[in-house]
Amino acid sequence: MSEAIYISGTGSYLPEKILTNQDIAKTVDTSNEWIVERTGIESRHIASEAETTSYMGFMAARAALADANLTSADVDMVILATMAPDMICPSTACIVQKLLGCRPIPAMDVGAACSGFMYILELARNFLLGSKNYKNILIIGSEKLSAMVDWEDRSTCVLFGDGAGAVIVSKGDHNGILDVFIGADGSGANLLTIPAGGSARPASEGTIKARNHYIKMDGREVFRNAIKYMGESINIILKRNDLTVDDVALVIPHQANMRIINMVAERANINRDRLFCNLNRRANTSAASIPIALNEAISSGKIKAGDLILLVAFGAGMTWGASIIKWK
Ligand code: UT7
Repeated sequence: MSEAIYISGTGSYLPEKILTNQDIAKTVDTSNEWIVERTGIESRHIASEAETTSYMGFMAARAALADANLTSADVDMVILATMAPDMICPSTACIVQKLLGCRPIPAMDVGAACSGFMYILELARNFLLGSKNYKNILIIGSEKLSAMVDWEDRSTCVLFGDGAGAVIVSKGDHNGILDVFIGADGSGANLLTIPAGGSARPASEGTIKARNHYIKMDGREVFRNAIKYMGESINIILKRNDLTVDDVALVIPHQANMRIINMVAERANINRDRLFCNLNRRANTSAASIPIALNEAISSGKIKAGDLILLVAFGAGMTWGASIIKWK
C-alpha cells in the first residue's frame, strides 16, 4: 500500500458581503480602534440567507476539485468540520455530498470547533493510509458563524466571520502530509460554548430569552489557553519530526486574534515574514480559517514546491492541533 498522502487541490469561498468594524460600531458599543488594537480584525465576510454552511462548503469543494483536476465522481469520502451546521441532523457533509452529486460515498461532520481542520486532516490521512478503499478524500471547513453569534454581545460579535475552505487529500506519489498532531482537554469545555439547542438544553422560550443559542466565551481564558496549546503543538510536531522552526518556510496559524498569533510566534521564534495572516479581512472563521488561509497563501505565491508548511490551531473543547506539510 502506498504511504504517500498529499494535498492535490485547495479551494475557498467567501460571501460577497463585507461588514466593517465601523458598521458594527453603529449597533453595539465598540469602536474600530478597540477591535483593531485588541484583535487585529478590520472587517469580515457575512453570509446571506442563501449562503448556508453547506452551500459555502459546496462552493469551496468545487474550487478544490477543479484545482486538483478531479470531479465529484473521484471523491471517495466527504468529511466536514463545522460549529455552525445547517441543522443538528442530518450532517452538513451529507448535504454537500448531494450538492456535489457524488456517488453514495461516506459523508460525516466532525465537531472540533476552530481546530476542526486539523482533526479532519488527520482523519483523512489515516483513512487513506489504513484502507485501500479510498483514494481521494474531500475535507471541508465551513462556518456560517454570523448565525451563531449574539449581535448584541460586543465581546464576541466583533470576532467572527463566515466562509469555507476545502482541500482534497489524495493517495499518490508525493509524501505531502508528513504528520498531524491533535489533542483535546474537555476540562475546558465550558470556556467557549453554544449552551442551548442540544439535547441537554433543548430550545425553549427560556433559552431564547436568555440568548443561550449564541456563542458564549470566556475570552481571557480562551486567549491564555490558545497561546499555551498552540505553542505546545508547534513544539511537539517539530520535535517528533526532527525539525526546527528554521526548517519551516511558512506558518499558517488559526486566525483568531493577532495578539495570540504574535505571542505564539514570538515564543516559538517564528519570524513575522514566515507567518501567513489574513485575519484583518477574514476575522475568525473557526474550522474554515486554516483552509481559507492555505488557499490564499498558495494563490498569492507564498508557497513554493518543496516548502515545509506548518499549520497550527486551537479551539473550543478545548481542542488543538498542528501539521507539517511538504508542498508538492
Ligand atoms: O478561535 C478560538 C476562539 N476564540 C479566541 O481565540 C478568542 C480569544 N480571546 C480574545 O481574543 C480576547 O480575549 C478578546 C478579543 C475576546 C477580548 O480581549 P481582551 O483584551 O481579553 O479584553 P477583555 O475581555 O479583558 O475586556 C477588556 C475590556 C472590558 O471592559 P472592562 O471590564 O475592562 O471595563 C470589556 O468589556 O474591553 C471591553 N470590551 C470591549 N470594548 C469595546 C470587550 N469587547 C469590547 C468591544 N469593544 N468589542
